Amino acid sequence: MTEPTSATPHYTMGFSETILRHSRRRTVHSHAAHLLPHLKPGLRALDLGCGPGTISVGLAKAIEPGELHGVDMEPSQVAVASAIAEAGGQGNATFHVGDVTDLPFDDDSFDLVHGHAVLTYIPDTQAALAEARRVLKPGGLISIREAVYGSSFLAPDYEVIGLAWSIFSELVTADDGHPNIGKDLKRHLLQAGFTNITSSASFTSYSTADEVDYFASVIKDWFLSADVRTAAMEYGVATQQHFDNLERALKRWISSPNAFGAVAYGESIAYKPPR
Ligand SMILES: C[S@@+](CC[C@H](N)C(=O)[O-])C[C@H]1O[C@@H](n2cnc3c(N)ncnc32)[C@H](O)[C@@H]1O
Repeated sequence: MTEPTSATPHYTMGFSETILRHSRRRTVHSHAAHLLPHLKPGLRALDLGCGPGTISVGLAKAIEPGELHGVDMEPSQVAVASAIAEAGGQGNATFHVGDVTDLPFDDDSFDLVHGHAVLTYIPDTQAALAEARRVLKPGGLISIREAVYGSSFLAPDYEVIGLAWSIFSELVTADDGHPNIGKDLKRHLLQAGFTNITSSASFTSYSTADEVDYFASVIKDWFLSADVRTAAMEYGVATQQHFDNLERALKRWISSPNAFGAVAYGESIAYKPPR
């Protein structure tokens, strides 16, 4: 279900135009609000799994004249992020192709490490957090925000749509990812040796007619696409009948005046212990 040229063959979401459009709507204000009070001019910051970089450029703006480095395994994402930074005149943002479990940076070299919707897709959570800890300066701050797909919903559900979140979660799990890791960030950060952890939760919601149309189009063009159906059937997590039922329920949802949907996230701020 990923592009054949992808450097991240087990990255469940893939890099279709629909998914890119979805990621590009994200901003530091919409998806990293918990971090805003901690952003200060002059910080040196790293964005793990930056994707198309729309959150990264917001971070870069907030820490000017500090440097922002974004890392993603997928060269096409690094190219998009670089283009978005350049178009926005964000000269303090640089993007690199790399693996967040093997970062191309020196020890103790960042004031801030940020990750949004990336640990969900990385099999070895502790390997990624150990690298984040290594590159952070003593006393440096880590901010992670990850989804809790099991607590996300569309209403009305027609007693069918909830199944879509379960199928998606099983797909992520089949790719060795963690569809509900947003719930467990505190535990993972403690285990990785971070201290002074503050955890909270928030939703990204879809309620206006435009938002409902938009979210339905993501579900239809991505989740109900032939690629995802094939992958789900190959993994044995759904049948054609499940997808047909979901397609019918989604049509009802779009035209319901009560349509509302929300994706749940857990988020945590923590610190590398001072020396
Ligand atoms: C859901 S996207 C999130 C992008 C961005 N953080 C955002 O929230 O808009 C996840 C990104 O993580 C990247 N990724 C997955 N595993 C990675 C790894 N081990 N190292 C670097 N990037 C990785 C994928 O290529 C993808 O661009």
